Amino acid sequence: GWRTSHLYKYQGFWCQASEIQSIISFQRHFQASETDVVLTTVPKSGTTWLKALAFAIVNRKRFPMSNNNHPLLTSNPHDLVPFFEYKLYDKHQLPDLSNLPQPRIFGTHVPFPSLPTSIKKSGCRVVYICRNPFDTFISSWHFINTVKPGSEAPMSLDEAFEMYCNGVIGFGPFWDHMLGYWKESIERPHKVLFLTYEDMKKDVTFHLKKLAEFLGFPFSLEEERAGDVEKIAKLCSFESLKELEVNKVGKSIKYFENKNLFRKGEVGDWVNYLTPRMVEKLTKVLEDKLGGSGLSFKVFS
Ligand code: PPS
Repeated sequence: GWRTSHLYKYQGFWCQASEIQSIISFQRHFQASETDVVLTTVPKSGTTWLKALAFAIVNRKRFPMSNNNHPLLTSNPHDLVPFFEYKLYDKHQLPDLSNLPQPRIFGTHVPFPSLPTSIKKSGCRVVYICRNPFDTFISSWHFINTVKPGSEAPMSLDEAFEMYCNGVIGFGPFWDHMLGYWKESIERPHKVLFLTYEDMKKDVTFHLKKLAEFLGFPFSLEEERAGDVEKIAKLCSFESLKELEVNKVGKSIKYFENKNLFRKGEVGDWVNYLTPRMVEKLTKVLEDKLGGSGLSFKVFS
């Protein structure tokens, strides 16, 4: 089951006992191919959004924007772009991934150093979406309490915050997770694309085009003129996805209900929760852990 209060450290990151077997199986058995796309995130950073965008971009010949049967209208993005650890490698039997449509798109929360060698060494592309830790923390805290079994007491904001600042959160410490992908995106920009939730919110069209180019599926002038970029942005927006039937009643990830994946979808909701003392403390953590890396967050408007 899902027990947020019981985390174990595996290869330097925190995870649940129930996740470790699948992560090991993924690490041992997955073979990347040159055309694969791997979407990587800290939980609650915009995974669902990125999965929707990447799926719509690379499949737009098969599923044109004019199609009112687009798979994203009836399937949750996590069904179309499966997680290695929650979907593909969570069973006793290994998955057969040979017949998936090309390019295959996968998702994972596993930190860069712990990815299977074939992902790190092959020409496959990795996209990372990073969200400011203030909002990611609030999003995680809400999520933890919605998915917690009724038998477990809710986690208080204070308790969750202390753990977060100590790095104790699924796939954390979050700073190591971010820095792992950040470094790689600087050293091998053709291999790892580093996006942020905040930039994408500010100008989704621009980043959608950048993502499409990186994935090898750039928009043609005709497509741009036809408004296809904006159509994809709209199809994948928080507002559209949240209203779909499948996202109100479905269950696409083990343990979770789809509706819990769509809460507020905003930048800056943390101001409604964090005390000045908390803000000061997390700011200090970010300075300590990310200072000098070139990675920083503008969280105060
Ligand atoms: S998970 O469980 O890790 O896959 O969750 P993840 O999708 O990474 O994070 C959930 C937060 O992202 C918001 N969300 C979106 N934002 C923008 N656009 C779209 N399409 C979208 N879909 C989900 C979701 O509301 C969670 O953030 P908060 O701040 O809690 O609302």
